[in-house]
Amino acid sequence: MSSLVQEVAPSGMADSKIFANRHNVTVILGSQWGDEGKGKIVDLLTSKAEIVCRFQGGNNAGHTVVVDEKSYDFHLLPCGIINKDCVSVIGNGVVVNLPQLFDELERNQLLCLGTSDKVNGAKEQDSLQKTQAEWMNRLYISNEAHLVFDVHQKADGLIEADLQADGRRQIGTTKKGIGPTYSTKALRMGIRMEELIDNFELFEREFRHLVEYHKKQFDNIDYSFDTEKELEKYRLLAERIRPCVRDTRKFLNDSIKAGKKILIEGANGSMLDIDHGTYPYVTSSNCTIGGVCTGLGLPTTAIGPVYGVVKAYCTRVGDGPFPTELHDDTGDSLQSLGREVGVTTKRKRRCGWLDCVLLNYTHMLNDYTALALTKLDVLSTLDQIKIGKAYMLDGKLLDSPPTNANKLSRVQVIYDTLPGWKNDISSVRDFADLPKEAQEYVRYIERHVGVPIKWIGVGQERDAIIQLF
Ligand code: GDP
Ligand code: IMO
Ligand code: MG
Repeated sequence: MSSLVQEVAPSGMADSKIFANRHNVTVILGSQWGDEGKGKIVDLLTSKAEIVCRFQGGNNAGHTVVVDEKSYDFHLLPCGIINKDCVSVIGNGVVVNLPQLFDELERNQLLCLGTSDKVNGAKEQDSLQKTQAEWMNRLYISNEAHLVFDVHQKADGLIEADLQADGRRQIGTTKKGIGPTYSTKALRMGIRMEELIDNFELFEREFRHLVEYHKKQFDNIDYSFDTEKELEKYRLLAERIRPCVRDTRKFLNDSIKAGKKILIEGANGSMLDIDHGTYPYVTSSNCTIGGVCTGLGLPTTAIGPVYGVVKAYCTRVGDGPFPTELHDDTGDSLQSLGREVGVTTKRKRRCGWLDCVLLNYTHMLNDYTALALTKLDVLSTLDQIKIGKAYMLDGKLLDSPPTNANKLSRVQVIYDTLPGWKNDISSVRDFADLPKEAQEYVRYIERHVGVPIKWIGVGQERDAIIQLF
């Protein structure tokens, strides 16, 4: 026992207690600019988890999970919701648009039942009600999560329009009101789930204040909806959501002590982190590892393995620097073969080569235990594949990426070029069966980042995966 531990340990406390392994929370984070395929990896691991949690962001996220040919789109709901044995938690760090949450619930419940867009007949209605009740029983929402209102969404659009009118570049947000909601949270005038369900009078007062605040901020805000109608809508929503709202921090910390297996689902991506990403072209929350503790109320000792999800190439939606971006036919073919269209906004994703400089940078932030490399199958038509391995700026080799977005947009990327494989790999399930060029691509990434690759995605479906160890 070290002398420090001897000093602080109450007498009689066994070493085993001091060093008890409490690291039972597994974290999945996006290592690039989002859309790396986190949903697929979370879904893969939910069969082993008892609780799946979102810790930040809101319905700016779009996670596609394909199971038995059904394609689920999750925005606010943790992907674990389709696993009957999992509790899904929306933590205090998440911002929640309630009407959109209910739409998302209904859409995915219908899909789960195999019905298209509406129920037909009493039998289907009955099944839908059962599924709804079952999902709501397994959905826990933090009483401290902030609510996203229409005013936030409108403000988001206006801020973007103002940026453009000023001749400044837009961020290219999802216009879901995420930035304005985190702003009112920081201004301490946000409204939390607990106000809505515990004290509607207080909620009403705060809501009116929030609306007035936005009207003062934006004299051109189109406030066409009626505050009274909006309040009535929230009175009903409060009743519907009340059973789900609880102290999720206490629930999670108790669950950790009880040894439950907890999986954390990152949203957005590390390069979109408000502190560590390509500011100002970022989202408004911490999508890197620190956000897990603040967004759920967990101590750092709870954190176990941290898996970084990395797409075999790079994509970005919205504006901002993208050093390895391709503006040619190869970029277009990655976009179409990879079906790179945003799940939330349906915008085409910008495409480029894998960037090991940024991957190393997000590894420094998150300390990945291992990586999940997704969409390797999409590279299968290329003769040659490039990988960004270093940056130069103004003739000098950099030892880390510039923090300034403007400088990052000016870096010159130094690439290595690897041979392609030009074989369909979508049915491969064993690493040894991959073409040797594909194996070399995987090994190159491991060597350059210094992290082992544990999974390789070769298709959209749940089972289109190669597990290496
Ligand atoms: P997320 O936001 O990180 O969860 O990623 P998205 O769901 O927005 O985007 C990833 C897209 O790639 C989704 O349509 C997934 O179904 C799909 N996908 C995930 N892994 C693979 C893979 O290994 N191969 C292929 N072809 N598609 C994949
Ligand atoms: P998932 O979880 C890709 C991007 C937006 C925009 C910037 C700010 O599916 O990986 P916001 O609406 O958050 O204020 O927009 O962040 N963005 C994402 N890009 N995937 C996401 O989520 C994203 N969430 C936000 O396009 O550039
Ligand atoms: Mg996405």
